Amino acid sequence: MCGIVGYVGEKQARDVVVEGLRLLEYRGYDSAGIALVAGGELGQTVLVSDKRAGKLANLEKAIAEDALPAATTGIGHTRWATHGAPNDVNAHPHLGPQRRVAVVHNGILENFARLRDELERAGHDLLSETDTEVAAHLIENEVLAGADLTTAMQNVCRRLEGAFTLVAIDAHDPSRVVAARRNSPLVVGLGVGENFIGSDVAAFIEHTREALELGQDQVVTITRDAVAVSDFDGNEAQGRQYHVDWDLAAAEKDGYDWFMRKEIFEQPRAIADALLGRHDENGQLQLDEVRISDDELRDIDKIVIIACGTSNYAAMVAKYAIEHWTRIPCEIELSHEFRYRDPILTRNTLVVAISQSGETADTLMAIRHAKKQKAKVLAICNTNGSTIPRESDAVIYTHAGPEIGVASTKGFLTQLVACYLLGLYLAQVRGTKYGDEIAAVVGELAAMSDRVQQVLDDADRVYALAERFKDTTSVLFIGRHAGFPVALEGALKLKELAYIHAEGFAAGELKHGPIALIEPGLPVFCVVPPRGRDQLHDKMISAIQEIRARGALTIVLAEADDDEVTPYADVFIPLPTVPTLLQPLVATVPLQLFACELATLMGHDVDQPRNLAKSVTVE
Ligand code: G6P
Repeated sequence: MCGIVGYVGEKQARDVVVEGLRLLEYRGYDSAGIALVAGGELGQTVLVSDKRAGKLANLEKAIAEDALPAATTGIGHTRWATHGAPNDVNAHPHLGPQRRVAVVHNGILENFARLRDELERAGHDLLSETDTEVAAHLIENEVLAGADLTTAMQNVCRRLEGAFTLVAIDAHDPSRVVAARRNSPLVVGLGVGENFIGSDVAAFIEHTREALELGQDQVVTITRDAVAVSDFDGNEAQGRQYHVDWDLAAAEKDGYDWFMRKEIFEQPRAIADALLGRHDENGQLQLDEVRISDDELRDIDKIVIIACGTSNYAAMVAKYAIEHWTRIPCEIELSHEFRYRDPILTRNTLVVAISQSGETADTLMAIRHAKKQKAKVLAICNTNGSTIPRESDAVIYTHAGPEIGVASTKGFLTQLVACYLLGLYLAQVRGTKYGDEIAAVVGELAAMSDRVQQVLDDADRVYALAERFKDTTSVLFIGRHAGFPVALEGALKLKELAYIHAEGFAAGELKHGPIALIEPGLPVFCVVPPRGRDQLHDKMISAIQEIRARGALTIVLAEADDDEVTPYADVFIPLPTVPTLLQPLVATVPLQLFACELATLMGHDVDQPRNLAKSVTVE
């Protein structure tokens, strides 16, 4: 939530910082700002800064009209507001009273009120409502007292509580940018004759693919030619260097109008990548990253899956699959609820944390709680080097590539693939399924790229539907079993992007209340399970008949040749035939396309929906 950038090198810092902010804008777009250490009139260096409410475009326009001076050291920020309204004054960077230090911040300083009080009693005049300005004043105090910027940052960080990534520059020291992190993301980009700071690697991927991940409670100082890491006490520390396996093209729109649409269409490739190298030709699974021994996996007697938002719907699907394949009881819980209800965890509990970003604060706090209770923690994550996998005992990366659209799409589908892999792997290790049964499901999974492609090839059908409903104000979604989370995800996508009333229900629950919402013409998306050996399919048809009898307009997603349901479909969206448990992989796709197209037709910003942020790094 908030994107931060820092640069020191030989290029124009203004350009590097603004470009980095553009690639991080998905993290927050309430305001944007920049600060540079530039040459002053008397041969001394000074801070120059500009910051504007609204999207980055506002800042770019301001800079274009009133060009910033040349400088090779700078920081930038794109904000998702927590403390204070999203206006120019509250925008970052924040400067100390003597304009010696500029600071950008991601996170929340929980003890800021006390620190602000202390500063005000000492005569400081704070201009904004933000917690960040307090950090700028404190760091400047240290620098004015003679500390170098690195020591100043260390001294101040020891006093701060909460979650923060801070990046600072000193007007009198153009050679360095100093950053610190606690419970918030921060990576260093390692260049030649230049170095970078970013909330994630997108900030500098255009310049370098070598990155350094920082540990908890660390400070990093970058100069043109060196990177030095320490803890908050000034003791030397180490980061972990890694190579980023995607490039700028992956973070660009590639001809699509929205990142989200591009990411929807990337899903066949993303599914294939998520499966790559994880099974042999006999369908035997190899999950080398699961660094929990087979013996320990055999001892697990309960699984708790925690997540937020769309990832929570992946968790719901995972419960159906994992319980079915492994017979291990599996609970699902929203991360923010989990920690506060005193969950029963033991050494034999496996806690699975699902997070696309790997930075969601509620999920991070939940895994820390689980680890304290000695449970084993496995992360399912898309972001290499992010905090949640780093703090977990094991990780399954989803390999979807960068997801920039705020509403998750390929992130979700690849989370599903990872959950299926985990369930099947547990079944393999514990012997709850025969090898050939597992191989059969793995074979089905391997075919899912093509099946999803089939659905995408039919996108025009969904776009026509969006055109038809572009003035609608309310939409319902119903599903059963693994189709229930799909209904919830379909409704969430519409809320996030089209800002209209949308709700998902378990179809069986309809007659216990929600059916009262049905009125003539109300569009209801119905996710119909494949015709299999169970009764789910028939029960779903009954639910569709019930709502249709009350005048709803039924939009039915079902197997292409399902002629039992077609008589009750006002609109029919054909799906490929797949096993029930895997159906969310194909059934979610038309709902993503519908939300994306409807929001486009309504004139909304699909990639940056109002009030949202890609990763929520505050509790
Ligand atoms: C935010 C995003 C959602 C996402 C959720 C969980 O609310 O807008 O799209 O599903 O966070 O994020 P995570 O990165 O933990 O999966």
